[in-house]
Amino acid sequence: MGKKQENYELLVEQAKSLLDGETDLVANMSNLVSLLFHEIPNLNGTTYYRFKNNELILGPFQGKPACMHIPVGKGVCGTVAQTKRTEIVENIHNFAGHIACDSASKSEIVVPVFKDDQFWGVLDLDSPEYSTFDETDGEYLSQIAPLIFN
Ligand code: SME
Repeated sequence: MGKKQENYELLVEQAKSLLDGETDLVANMSNLVSLLFHEIPNLNGTTYYRFKNNELILGPFQGKPACMHIPVGKGVCGTVAQTKRTEIVENIHNFAGHIACDSASKSEIVVPVFKDDQFWGVLDLDSPEYSTFDETDGEYLSQIAPLIFN
């Protein structure tokens, strides 16, 4: 197992124990984005967006102030809301329609979050370095993001 996987295995356990027994969604989202922000290297943003009234609306996050409403199909998050598939963007400057919340951002990963098999929102991680994220991040973040539903 690679170093990145080992770190994520530990992070999954940390996330589970951090949220253990808590059912309040805002509390769980808030603590989880903080844990990810501080434990995953090279990040400048960790953000939940919830799918509500056919658009994405800002949830708890860490990082600079973020865009509050994102239409389906717009930017990286809106693309994921449309396709319901993880997007890994190595260079956000090459992603047509990218929404810049923090000019320091260079790469991004957005995973769809499902609750009871229904699309519920997305988890968005931003990095100030190019090519920060890969399939390993995608797999583990997809596992970690729904831990808020206790
Ligand atoms: N960059 C995102 C917008 C959200 S902020 O990065 C937090 C996008 O293009 O969807």
